Amino acid sequence: MKKDILQDNVVQQKRITRKIPKKLRNIYSLDDFEIFARKKLPRQIYGYYSGAAETNQSLKYNRDIFQNYFFVPRILRDVSKRSTQHSLFGKKYKYPFGIAPMGLSALATWQGDIQLCRAANKQNIPMVLSATSLIKLEKLGKKEDCKWFQLYLPGEDNRILQMLERVKASGFENIVLTVDLPVTANRENNEKTGFSTPLKPNFRLAWDGITHPVWSIQTFLRSFCNGVPHFENMDYFRGPPIISRNFERARGARDQLNWKHVELIRKNWKGNFIVKGILSAEDAIKAKESGVDAVWISNHGGRQLDGSVSPVSVLPKIRKVVGDYPIIIDSGFRRGSDILKALALGADFVFVGRPFLYAAAVDGEQGIEHAIKLLGDEVERNIAMLGVNNLDEMNADFLEVRDGVSSNQV
Ligand SMILES: Cc1cc2nc3c(=O)[nH]c(=O)nc-3n(C[C@H](O)[C@H](O)[C@H](O)COP(=O)(O)O)c2cc1C
Repeated sequence: MKKDILQDNVVQQKRITRKIPKKLRNIYSLDDFEIFARKKLPRQIYGYYSGAAETNQSLKYNRDIFQNYFFVPRILRDVSKRSTQHSLFGKKYKYPFGIAPMGLSALATWQGDIQLCRAANKQNIPMVLSATSLIKLEKLGKKEDCKWFQLYLPGEDNRILQMLERVKASGFENIVLTVDLPVTANRENNEKTGFSTPLKPNFRLAWDGITHPVWSIQTFLRSFCNGVPHFENMDYFRGPPIISRNFERARGARDQLNWKHVELIRKNWKGNFIVKGILSAEDAIKAKESGVDAVWISNHGGRQLDGSVSPVSVLPKIRKVVGDYPIIIDSGFRRGSDILKALALGADFVFVGRPFLYAAAVDGEQGIEHAIKLLGDEVERNIAMLGVNNLDEMNADFLEVRDGVSSNQV
């Protein structure tokens, strides 16, 4: 009992010595950011970030799946030298997680992508720049030392090759091809709140701007100071403005993208090449055979095909068929314990989406750094209680599924 109090004090002390800015003092976990971001952001923007497709079935499953697994900790193992460091493609990161690519991040806070990148670099975790960001990839690549770029590509060889040239010239080392978006998903919630891509200026949008003056001045007007923001990175040329009617046309033939294009990219990209949006063992094998460097298991945070499986639920099966081969995973991760469960089930690295946008909305770069530290602290604290010194020790023996069956047997 005394020890518990002592430990609580240590955690408390850690928070105090960090000199947490006033705005962030009541934020104790990633979920807390959402409460504050919801107040700060206009309804349409918050709705776009938080929303998913149709009935939110996959969105919910992404969280529920973690309730199926429980830890079996080990004791008396001297965990005083524990480390949260973890490697991916030979690079050592401070934590086993990174920031997933998210379009329109610059609507969360001014120059959102840059703030995400700076916070990630300061904390030594990876951050992936989205193809639908509003800031030119050239500004993020060499200038901000962003090493990861995500692509949405049409099934057109010429456009693919020219885009790869652009990405290469900007200094990126890792490309992530997102493949779960052959068509736009049915996100009814966006229509209900009045949000659309492209943005259509209307009364509701204007009213939300008026009723959220801090966001309107600090983010919206500031972003529009140099003209209307454009989709800068969808192609090898500059994309349309965010209020353009030509948006759909600019996307090109994404529904024609196929495995031949994956092979084409492999031949023409010397850095790491990851395919994001895989959910089946069959596709994971295909990606491996096509020379892809890692599969990224994802259902896009429940934002694409509603009713698609949760990535964590298919992880053991995919690990089994690909053998010793890098697996990245995202969708629904909010706690250090979630991350550790995925590592135990065979993931190599985890990415987190929405919470980092909420953190950006709450307090820009400082907010994002606070989010990284909170999640990192959870990982660090939990490995101590699990009896783990090094994350490579995580395996399925640390888990039991709810009904008491070892996860090895699932
Ligand atoms: C607002 C928003 C925008 C997103 N934009 C992209 C994108 O441009 N490219 C992409 O590959 N994934 C995109 N995603 C999906 C994320 O990369 C990631 O798969 C997902 O957010 C993970 O789920 P989580 O938010 O529950 O952590 C987006 C997600 C959100 C919430």
